[in-house]
Amino acid sequence: MTHALKLDTARFILRKIESSDIEILHSYWSDEIVTEYMNTSFKTLKESQQMVDLLNSLPESNEGIRWAIVDKNNGMVLGSCGYHNVKAEHRRAEVGYELGHRYWGKGVMQEAMHAVLQHCFTTVGFNRIEAFVTVGNRRSIHTLEKLGFQTEGVLKEYEFAQGKFQDQIVMALLRKDWENLAG
Ligand SMILES: CC(C)(COP(=O)(O)OP(=O)(O)OC[C@H]1O[C@@H](n2cnc3c(N)ncnc32)[C@H](O)[C@@H]1OP(=O)(O)O)[C@@H](O)C(=O)NCCC(=O)NCCS
Repeated sequence: MTHALKLDTARFILRKIESSDIEILHSYWSDEIVTEYMNTSFKTLKESQQMVDLLNSLPESNEGIRWAIVDKNNGMVLGSCGYHNVKAEHRRAEVGYELGHRYWGKGVMQEAMHAVLQHCFTTVGFNRIEAFVTVGNRRSIHTLEKLGFQTEGVLKEYEFAQGKFQDQIVMALLRKDWENLAG
C-alpha cells in the first residue's frame, strides 16, 4: 500500500508532522473545546510528543498516516488528519482529524478530508473508510455527512473516555458511493 507523504489542496498542504509542529498541535490536543468528544486529550507536551512519534511511525508499519494541515498562505499548522487501523486484507481504514478551534467553520476539514479520501480510494485502493464519532459531536457528523459518509449504527458504551463509557456512532463511506458522488 502506498501512503502519500504529501497531499496538495487549493488552500492547504498536507505534510508529515515535524518536531516544530508539536507545540501548536499540543495547544489543540490540550484544548477542552477541541477534545470534548475525542478519546485523547493531553496535559503535557511530552504526551503530545509521544503521540506525534506514534503517528509518524504509522506508515512504516502500514498502519496508517497522519498529516499536518498547513495553510499555504502563512505556513500555519491548523490541525491534523489522516487514517489509522488499516486492515489491508479488507481494504479498509478509519479516519481521524482535528482543527484548532479558531479554524472551525471555514471548510478546512472538508477540503483536507476530500483530498485524503481521494487518496484513500484512488491511490491506496481502500474500499471502505470508517469513522467512529462520539454521540453529540454534531460538527464532526456534519463534516462526514457532507463528505458522503452514512450512519450505520450506534455502538453502545464502546469507549471509556473522559471518565465515562460513551456511545460511538459508526459512519462509513464506500468506494462505489464516493465514485458515484464524484460523478
Ligand atoms: C470536526 C471538525 C474538524 C469540524 O470542523 P468544521 O470547520 O466544522 O468542518 P468543515 O471543514 O466541515 O467546515 C464546515 C463549515 O465551514 C463552512 N465554510 C466556510 N467556508 C467554507 C468553504 N470555503 N468551503 C466549505 N465550507 C466552508 C461551512 O459552511 C460549514 O459550516 P456550516 O456547517 O455551519 O454551514 C472540528 O469541529 C474539530 O476539530 N472538532 C474537534 C475534534 C473532533 O471532534 N474530531 C473528530 C473526532 S471523530
